[in-house]
Amino acid sequence: MANQDKINELIEKRAQARLGGGEKRIESQHQKGKFTARERIDMLLDEGSFEEFDMFVTHRCTNFGLEKTKFLGDGVVTGHGTIDGRVVYVFSQDFTVFGGSLSETFAQKICKVMDMAMKVGAPLIGINDSGGARIQEGVTSLAGYAEIFQRNILASGVIPQISAIFGPCAGGAVYSPALTDFIMMTDKSSYMFVTGPKVVKTVTGEDISTEDLGGASVHASKSGVSHFLCEDEQEGLLLIRKLLEYLPQNNLEEPPVTLCSDPIERMDDNLNEIIPENPNLPYDIKDVIYSLVDNQEFLEVHRNYAKNIFVGFAKFNGVPTGIIANQPNYLAGVLDIEASRKAARFVRFCDAFNIQILTLVDVPGFLPGSRQEYGGIIIHGAKLLFAYGEATVPKVTVTLRKSYGGAHDVMSCKQLRGDLNYAWPSAEIAVMGASGAIEVLEGRKLKELTDPEEKAKFIDEKVNEYKEKFANPYQAAAYGYIDDVIEPRNTRFRIIRGFESLSTKKLSNPPKKHCNIPL
Ligand code: HXC
Repeated sequence: MANQDKINELIEKRAQARLGGGEKRIESQHQKGKFTARERIDMLLDEGSFEEFDMFVTHRCTNFGLEKTKFLGDGVVTGHGTIDGRVVYVFSQDFTVFGGSLSETFAQKICKVMDMAMKVGAPLIGINDSGGARIQEGVTSLAGYAEIFQRNILASGVIPQISAIFGPCAGGAVYSPALTDFIMMTDKSSYMFVTGPKVVKTVTGEDISTEDLGGASVHASKSGVSHFLCEDEQEGLLLIRKLLEYLPQNNLEEPPVTLCSDPIERMDDNLNEIIPENPNLPYDIKDVIYSLVDNQEFLEVHRNYAKNIFVGFAKFNGVPTGIIANQPNYLAGVLDIEASRKAARFVRFCDAFNIQILTLVDVPGFLPGSRQEYGGIIIHGAKLLFAYGEATVPKVTVTLRKSYGGAHDVMSCKQLRGDLNYAWPSAEIAVMGASGAIEVLEGRKLKELTDPEEKAKFIDEKVNEYKEKFANPYQAAAYGYIDDVIEPRNTRFRIIRGFESLSTKKLSNPPKKHCNIPL
């Protein structure tokens, strides 16, 4: 073959590989409102930056006459490229080839980019759209999944791993995304479940649709499996780009600092008024966050799940920061099972990737009741406590209003190695709220008082006495548990200066094989 013929053959093979399962199946993918594996990569990465690996790989399966049907690339597009100029590794499952199902060679392709991402120290992004294990392959496909899982596990805490679910993701296949740091799902066109509706019906008799069982909104709001719910694929891919703006390439690097155009000493008088006079009234913690962060920009994680706690990324003077904040607007910002798990995982992510942590506290306590106790609030609350106590990144905490009981300790208190703990003058730091405390302390006296008017007057007096003593930040400040009581409007500046002073912080935990966090 002449040289030019060889080159033409290469060009032809490349063109064939780019067609995946063929034009008809591409058309069918488009008709479902979905993009192809390659289109998704193009939208995700910086223009022209994609370098593909293994586009000539084909499967080796001979079961069920499969050797007669081969597609170049075997159903997954893999390689590397850049996002905002920074290297990322990517795999994108191609539904047009055997429904994106995973074969031995398909898994090997994914493992190759995972190994490269680890070697280079760059984030890994997986786009999932697959019918699961390739049925014709049998156990080699199961082994392939396990090879991927093992790599997910070893990469955890070393490189950021992000999963986009843009179609089916079922059976054991769900566990690779579940092992990664963030999952995003597209509304109405993606689903995840361990067992599908048909099996559910057979085994339990429950009649449930695919969407209700494992659709994007279910996982964003009920299970918490998914961190981000996106309208469509484009939004999802842009969100991945946005997310990476806050993350380092790996656990040995610092997150990317950008120039900040928002004055660091910017004050906001509204913050002096934001806490309602009546401590039982709510306010929106996001108003406070908007006011504090650079350019009013933050990326909320788990927006629809456990809304009583906010977690997300923002920047302070250009430095990426993880924010954890109780949300008084939802269930009064109480800590429950879901909120504890959500926040604990976020704190651990930030700590693993050197992202400083800001905690805004307004928490009335843990949610009481049998549902919580039977569900193991003790263990789940301990997760958050553990995560904060284990974290070695700079931690600045601001108590805005309530900080009661065990929840006070959990929310990044001084003794859990909080570096800088500030409070607003409206802070109430105590063992419990005034009414509850008086019930306990004055129980006997209250039983003796039979006249309702006299009783109400007595309670009033005692509540006021208690509030005067404890419903303020000064007792905690007197012990040095609060480093300073600050004027709310000045909070942005104090946070930034605090983090700046902590930028050279060095702290490590005792050497061990690994901790035994209460899972
Ligand atoms: C081989 C598969 C396949 C699979 C789909 N295809 N899933 N081929 N193995 N797992 C093929 C189809 O035969 C079809 O081929 C093409 O992909 C598109 O599939 P359709 O069924 O036409 O598409 P659609 O109607 O959109 O339905 C998509 C689907 C469905 C819901 C994903 O295909 C399906 O239910 N697939 C099986 C899912 C499954 O049970 N997987 C195993 C899960 S258990 P043609 O040639 O017609 O285009 C598992 C264990 C993992 O994954 C364990 C890890 C530890």
